[in-house]
Amino acid sequence: MSRILSGIQPTGELHLGNFLGAVRGWVSSQGGNDAYYCIVDLHALSGEHDPATLAARTLETATCLLAAGLDPLSCTLFVQSQVPEHTRLAWLLECVATLGELGRMTQYKQKAGRGDSIRVGLFTYPVLMAADILLYQADAVPVGEDQRQHLELARNLAIRFNHHYGQTFVVPEAATPPVGARIMDLQEPRRKMSKSVSSPLGTIGVLDEPAEIARKVKKAVTDAGSEVAYDREAKPGVANLLEMLAAAGGGDPAELAGHFGSYGELKSAVAEAISELLRPLRERYGELAGEPGLVMKILAEGAERAGEVAARTYADAARAIGLLPGH
Ligand code: TRP
Repeated sequence: MSRILSGIQPTGELHLGNFLGAVRGWVSSQGGNDAYYCIVDLHALSGEHDPATLAARTLETATCLLAAGLDPLSCTLFVQSQVPEHTRLAWLLECVATLGELGRMTQYKQKAGRGDSIRVGLFTYPVLMAADILLYQADAVPVGEDQRQHLELARNLAIRFNHHYGQTFVVPEAATPPVGARIMDLQEPRRKMSKSVSSPLGTIGVLDEPAEIARKVKKAVTDAGSEVAYDREAKPGVANLLEMLAAAGGGDPAELAGHFGSYGELKSAVAEAISELLRPLRERYGELAGEPGLVMKILAEGAERAGEVAARTYADAARAIGLLPGH
């Protein structure tokens, strides 16, 4: 049994990219592993956020995750800010990390490059992420390509801490999600599907009704020509639709391409497959959304379970680094 930890931002409603790229894998990994899944609301503070809606979005994200199939009997689902050891360990790790290595994080460089008033929290974001992982002594961390460098930092901090202060942390490995699960924006198919960058037409929400899904897929950008072929470079729009179809219903995108005589036929099939794929989630969400108290209770229990593990690791780390007991 391996200990798994992963995290997701509290963006509210998940989108299809979150679902196919990450959450579906979380659901299938929860049985047979010791899985911890964390909604990282503290990370959300490192960028522009709306204090009036963050708490509601955090709850909505949790509700979507449960609707998607996370089962509180098979995994520990919790909210980062409800387990105070995350920030406490982050400080210890900040005292191990260097300015140079954080300055090399490409996500930081990209985000900082866009604004002039850069928050310290954006800079130290990867250290908090390392704390998320190391607190649970995770062996495996399912992350997308864009988080690989952050995971590498977490590994380096664990190795360095262990070296200086004695064996304390498990050094985690990245667990790559299945191929073909990198869903792109429907309007900008060279860009990963994401709520923040795209036009509303580019992103399919997991709670979108079938008619809405059909409308967005119909308007999806396709490529010059009319032949349905799987070519990520030359035909990124069509390739994305084929990958969505493969991810939803199985099969191989290149092979599926041969089944369709036109872009229109392909789009109908994609809309249908995605609507069906999301139907159980949509229905379950409808039930859970009426019971916010139940979701809050599941999160409180998750925080309690997570907190037990986190408190033990933090105590070990604090002792190793030289703090007086009673911390
Ligand atoms: N930084 C991750 C993202 O934006 C979210 C995250 C925070 C995370 N802590 C984590 C992912 C720990 C894996 C493990 O997607």
